[in-house]
This record gives sequence, structure tokens and C-alpha cells, in this order.
Amino acid sequence: PLSRSLSMSSLSGLPLWEDEGLPVEDLLLFEVAWEVTNKVGGIYTVIQTKAKITVDEWGDNYFMVGPYYEHNFKTQVEGCDPPNPAIKKAMDCLTNNGCQVHFGRWLIEGSPYVVLFDIGAAAWNLDRWKGELWDTCGISLPFHDREANDSLIFGSMCLDVRWFVELWQAGAGLVLCRSRKLPLATIFTTHATLLGRYLCAGNVDFYNNLDKFNIDKEAGERQIYHRYCLERAAVHCSHVFTTVSQITAVEADHMLHRKPDMVTPNGLNVKKFSAMHEFQNLHSINKAKIQEFVRGHFYGHLDFNLEKTLFFFIAGRYEFTNKGADIFLESLSRLNYLLRVHKNDVTVVVFFIMPAKTNNFNVESLKGQAVRKQLWDTAHQVKEKFGKRLYEALLKGEIPDMNTILDRDDVTIMKRAIYATQRHGLPPVTTHNMLDDGSDPILSNVRRIGLFNCRTDRVKVVFHPEFLSSTSPLLPMDYEEFVRGCHLGVFPSYYEPWGYTPGECTVMGIPSVTTNLSGFGCFMEEHVTDPAAYGIYIVDRRFRSADESCNQLTQFMFGFCQQSRRQRIIQRNRTERLSDLLDWRYLGRYVCLSGLPGLLHQSGVTIGISLQTDGFRYPRPSSVPPSPSASLHSTPHHSDEEDEEPYDEEEEAERDRQNIKAPFSLETVPSGKKKLPG
Ligand code: UDP
Ligand code: G6P
Ligand code: GLC
Repeated sequence: PLSRSLSMSSLSGLPLWEDEGLPVEDLLLFEVAWEVTNKVGGIYTVIQTKAKITVDEWGDNYFMVGPYYEHNFKTQVEGCDPPNPAIKKAMDCLTNNGCQVHFGRWLIEGSPYVVLFDIGAAAWNLDRWKGELWDTCGISLPFHDREANDSLIFGSMCLDVRWFVELWQAGAGLVLCRSRKLPLATIFTTHATLLGRYLCAGNVDFYNNLDKFNIDKEAGERQIYHRYCLERAAVHCSHVFTTVSQITAVEADHMLHRKPDMVTPNGLNVKKFSAMHEFQNLHSINKAKIQEFVRGHFYGHLDFNLEKTLFFFIAGRYEFTNKGADIFLESLSRLNYLLRVHKNDVTVVVFFIMPAKTNNFNVESLKGQAVRKQLWDTAHQVKEKFGKRLYEALLKGEIPDMNTILDRDDVTIMKRAIYATQRHGLPPVTTHNMLDDGSDPILSNVRRIGLFNCRTDRVKVVFHPEFLSSTSPLLPMDYEEFVRGCHLGVFPSYYEPWGYTPGECTVMGIPSVTTNLSGFGCFMEEHVTDPAAYGIYIVDRRFRSADESCNQLTQFMFGFCQQSRRQRIIQRNRTERLSDLLDWRYLGRYVCLSGLPGLLHQSGVTIGISLQTDGFRYPRPSSVPPSPSASLHSTPHHSDEEDEEPYDEEEEAERDRQNIKAPFSLETVPSGKKKLPG
């Protein structure tokens, strides 16, 4: 076996490194996940952001294991030889058996080692591995379920080199390695249950019926019985079972019949800028880029004031109801109505960033950016001429005649540029050609509520059915820049084991909407006295009807639209102050990196360790009313400049820091070499 330090207990199959006095330093840690170097959704974010602290703790003994995709490898990994002879031997063994394995350093913070398996190249083993799965566990995988088959190939390859296994797509490997009693210690972290995701997506009243589902029947009816068996087997076979939030812990108990041993909330790498308000500057710079996009996209219809335009967005995996895009659209329609009847001069441009099947950008969107560029070039060209003539005149000691300084040709090119901005249709709702335009849920609902980007609409919709990229010809920004440039992230999820998107907003100082059905929302409710004051709006989707939740969301958004610029700036400062709470440097200790071996050691017994974060809460911000929307002006006629109350952000931040009852201080987080608890 690879880890020389592990040996097997004859009774339980558990590693007994402590009893045998084996050095902890020789332990190897393998983290196996489908999203290693392979971005699908939030799990990629977990793995990528956690790498640094794990490498700090485990050094060269830490390896991430994932699937090999040529493009991902070429763009994200620096190939090298494995430094550990045992790993080299295991890889050679796989290669000699006709499989392909790649090794290198993943070019992210911490530069962890990665071992990537080529699934396609090993597919010829599929029948054999399916047979083994059937023989040992009685689970059969249908030939048409590509994803399940890939996960079996992946899991079996992990198994063949007898490695330490964690996470879902490696579930098959986990089950098989336990049934073969391999000397491995296993942790399985679930980021969602398969059945939970399916049931919620099917508009089921999930949380009120958790204990009533006949889970085998439900899985069978959805034709995911084999996957569900694999998941349930993996959960029950792992020595330690963890999940990312309390809400998913309850769900797992019902859907998989095992209570997690630990809850390990997801963190982020929080960047602290040396200048305290740098994140505010970044907001400004990136907002300007989004404004440029909007100038192009809405060309010919720019009768709204961009200085009074707010950018809202929703982003993530395209699961229409699970992500709450359904109630978001409904609430936007209500918001549009409210802004119109109140004759509000604010315009809201709402971005939907959710990947769907497309056939590239559409012509109208590309044309919009081309028109904007042309206007810019024309303005630049005329400005040059104007400047030159002005300079010549001044040299002669004259003030030029403004009526003649531009000649007829100049006026002609300007007129032509303006004519080019005429358009016959409305600014498009989508930026891409959608493959399923007619049945797409966002588009169908946009049609139903009639949010077509008309001039009279105060709420405009832009659906960008692809993740963002700085190399896009349309909106050349990466996701982080885009988030920074927006005003509000809206994530009214119904099914959301954690939900990275609102947390990412928080650490960038951008307010967001979440729900009390998301792991993140519940975590914030638990640790922050008045989340809304800090720019975390939590929609109640648990104890209210869908209609009531829509009303609440509409009120949050309407209240947000009524804030002055100054109020928004203050709120962003407060939002950013919550960052420490989400920092891996703090949360990392709960990801059992230090406590893991001890936990595993006892894992024959179910140990109910829950996250010991009770006892601290962020208090209300000291100097202001609970929520900025409650501090609105009583008269509608005020300008931002009239926000006269003195406010000292640094003073408030300091006061609040002292008020936090913290067993929680980043300085006290242990770092350095791992230590076994006694
Ligand atoms: N994301 C991204 N690019 C985009 C939009 C989203 O990389 O253009 C990422 C985002 O940073 C987040 C992840 O997608 O980390 C979504 O994770 P979340 O946990 O919110 O939901 P999931 O998609 O896993 O259900
Ligand atoms: C940041 C910048 C300010 C700018 C403001 C705009 O705070 O530092 O200079 O005025 O953003 O805020 P808004 O919410 O209107 O985009
Ligand atoms: C899954 C969940 C999401 C969570 C992510 C990371 O993709 O759907 O809510 O944030 O995993 O744990």
C-alpha cells in the first residue's frame, strides 16, 4: 500500500497508526473529487479555496485526485513527476495496465499536487468494473447513464491504486475499497443529496415532508435508483460522514439514513487589501465596465440615467426552481410595477448568469457592442480634430469660433454614427442563441411576465447563459470583477446545501439576498444579529408561502432601490466586515484537517460532533438603525448630498469589533504542522 504508515486492524478494518506508534508525518491525505481542476459549480470553489490551508498543514503529503480533461490540464496544471516514489509506482502500475494518469501541480494558491485520471482511456474496463460492483454490492449501473459510469471508472481507478477516498463521484471507489477491506481511512463529504436535489427540482414540498418520503420509491420513479444506492452505500461505508451545513445534515438523515458526524461549513480565501476602502474603488472600476456593456446592449434605448442604474444578478448552476430563479422573476415583475407607479427614477438591470445550451452569442448582442465601439471611435476621432484646431487657434492667440471649429465632414460622420444607433426591435433579453429557446424556463417566464426591456420598464433583463470570462468579446470580465461591479446579488434558493454565491458577494463587500433554506443563509442567521443591516437579506422560504416569499423579496429589492448612494456605500462597508466569518483561516479548523485522524480513529462509533461555533454573534452595527432601508428619508425629494448625518466608518467598525463576543479570533487559529488530538 501507498501509505506505509497505515496498517489494518484485524477487527474493524480501521487504521491503527496511533496504537502502532506510527509517525503522523508519514500519513498521506488524498482528496478525491470530480471537480478537481474541473469547474462545474460550488464544489470546485470549495476545493480550490481550501487548497492553500491544506497544503500549509499537510505539505507534500497532500494530493488531490480528479478526472483528466486535456483542456483543463493544459490551462491549469504544470505537469511534473510525482516526488513520492510510492505514487510513482502506483501510477506506473496503472499505466502498465493500459490506463492513463497525469500528475502535476495545480496552478492555484498553495500549488497542490494533482493526480488526474483519464476516464475515456480507461473505459474499456467498464464492464469488468461493473461486474465487480454488482458482485460485491449488488448495485448495477445502466449503460445509458454516462455520468454514473464515468464515476465508476473514476472510483475504480482510485481504488486500483488504493488511495484515501473522499466525496461523491468517488463513491463507487469508497464502497469497493471498504468491501475489500483495504487499509484506508475514508471521509465522505456530501454537498447535496441526489434525491433531495431531484425532489426539490420537481416542485415537491420538500422540507415539510422530509420524514414522509418513501425514498426507495421516489428514487425508482425518477430513474436514479442505482445512483441513489451508490450514494447511500458510500455514505454508510465511510468512516466519517460530513456535510456542509446543518440543513443538509437533517436532509441526509432522512434521505440517506445517516446523521453526519460533523458539519464542515464552506469557507473562502479572504483577500485583505492594505487600503481599507480598496474594495470600494474596485466596485467603481468594475461598475464602469458593466456600464460600458449596458451602453452597447441597450443602444438606441439609453433613455435611462446610468448614474441611477443599479445592477442586480443571480448566478450559478442552471436549476430554475432550486436556485429560486422562479420567485426572482416573479418578484422582478412586482418590482417593475412598484418602481413605475412610484415614478422612481432608478432603473435596475438584472443579469442572469446561468449556463444553458447555446449556439454562441447572438448577432444583435454583438452588434450592440460594435455600435458602442463605433460611437466611441467617432467621438475620439472628432475630439482629436477639435483639439488640434483649438490648439492651433490658441497658438495664434485666438479663441476659435465654436460654430465653425468642426467642419461639415465632422458633422456628417457624427450623424452617421447616430443613425447607426437606431434599432427596430427591443434590446434582447438573451446574449446568446439559445438551443431550447421555446422551452427554456427563464425565457418562458420572461414571456409570461412580459419583461421585454421596453422603454417604460424600470427593470431590464439580460440573460447571459454562460459563465463569465475575461476573454469574452461581449462582456470581457471574469466573475469576480463582475460581482464587484454589481450592487446586489440575488440568490433566493429553495434547494441550496451551502450556496457560495452570496458568500462570495459578502467577502467582496457586495450585499446579497439569500434564504433560510440555504446553508449559507442559516449560518448567517445564526452568527449575525441583524443580517440585513450588514447587507445580507434572508428571504423566509421555510415558513411562508411562495407568494409571501415573493412579496418579501420584492420589498427587499424595492427598499434597496430607495437607498441613496451614501447608504449603499455604508452598507457595502458593513457587508465586507463580515468577511472574517467566512475565511478558511477560521473555518478551516472545522474541516477536520487537524481533528481528522482522531475522529477517524474512533469512527467505528458514531460520534455526534457538531460545529462548536455557538456563543458568538455579530451584533447590530452600533451607530445606525437596524437596516439602511429603515433609515430612509421621510421625504421623497432629497439628494445624496443631503445625507447629512455624520458617519465615521472606521469608528463604527472598531466599536463593532469590540462588541463581538468572540471565541473567534483569526490570530488564535492554529497553523503549521498537523497535530493529533489526544
Ligand atoms: N461561478 C463562476 N462563474 C460564473 C458564475 C458563477 O465561477 O460566471 C461560480 C461561483 O463563483 C460559485 C459557483 O459558481 O463559486 C456556484 O456555486 P454555488 O455553491 O453557489 O452553487 P452550485 O452551482 O454549486 O449549486
Ligand atoms: C465606491 C466608490 C465611490 C463611488 C461609489 C458608487 O464607493 O469609492 O467613489 O461613488 O462606489 O456607489 P454606487 O453604489 O452608486 O455604485
Ligand atoms: C453543491 C451545492 C451548493 C454548495 C456547493 C459547495 O454544489 O449545490 O449549495 O455551495 O455544493 O458545497
